[in-house]
Amino acid sequence: MNIRLDGKVALVTGGSGGIGQAIARSLAASGASVAVNYIGNRASADATVSGITDEGGKAIALEADIADMTAVQAMFAQLDATLGAPDILINCAGIDGHGALSWDIDPAAWRRVIEVNLFGSFYCSRQALQRMVPRKSGVILNISSVHETIAWTGYSAYTSSKAALSMLTKTMAQEAAPFGIRVLAVAPGAIQTDINKSVWSDPEQMRDLAEKIPLGRMGQVQEIAGLITFLVSDGGSYVTGTTVFADGGMTDYPDFSHGG
Ligand code: BGC
Repeated sequence: MNIRLDGKVALVTGGSGGIGQAIARSLAASGASVAVNYIGNRASADATVSGITDEGGKAIALEADIADMTAVQAMFAQLDATLGAPDILINCAGIDGHGALSWDIDPAAWRRVIEVNLFGSFYCSRQALQRMVPRKSGVILNISSVHETIAWTGYSAYTSSKAALSMLTKTMAQEAAPFGIRVLAVAPGAIQTDINKSVWSDPEQMRDLAEKIPLGRMGQVQEIAGLITFLVSDGGSYVTGTTVFADGGMTDYPDFSHGG
């Protein structure tokens, strides 16, 4: 299937690295003009942009801490003035936070995870919807996680943020559907990026992780980016208010392949 997004404007938060960078590249390869949001790492954002423009695509970098509502507002104003109002928003920026039991963790660290993963997605979606509703068109895709349903010791803020993001997705989808706008989520499993480098660079931890995945391997960023490009295109026109899992079967309870 030839997926085309010509004439569409897309904003990808956290687009300077990991899954977000692959999404930005994939959307641009399908013809969308892409705004690559980043925080701090200008060099990575520039590399993403030049990777796109070198291949004949259109992209710009926009800096904003998505957890800061005023910064998000300013970013959308910049987007309006450059590429134009977004047709596609990918809420990808997110952090795991550092592992600590819920009774030990510093509440400020806990709060930061919720502010980036949940409030950040809310602030960006709010700005996007204010532009999409009057135009009666648009797609918002939230990057959730298998941890919207799988508990994860040491990561209570992360799991809570992703579970909440799932209901935010469903509720915004219900609100926006009468305006022809789709809101959905994709829940990746263990995708090999910097976020989980400590796991895949340690053979012992990697063995343990592989046992949690029926397909027996981590996913690659392109395996998520391709799916997302399809879902935000007309190919996904009937998908809204739900989470699509792309996890190599992680949520298929691999422990039940024996016993029970
Ligand atoms: C986390 C990764 C983790 C994966 C599987 C993701 O949501 O960001 O760090 O490897 O879930 O547990």
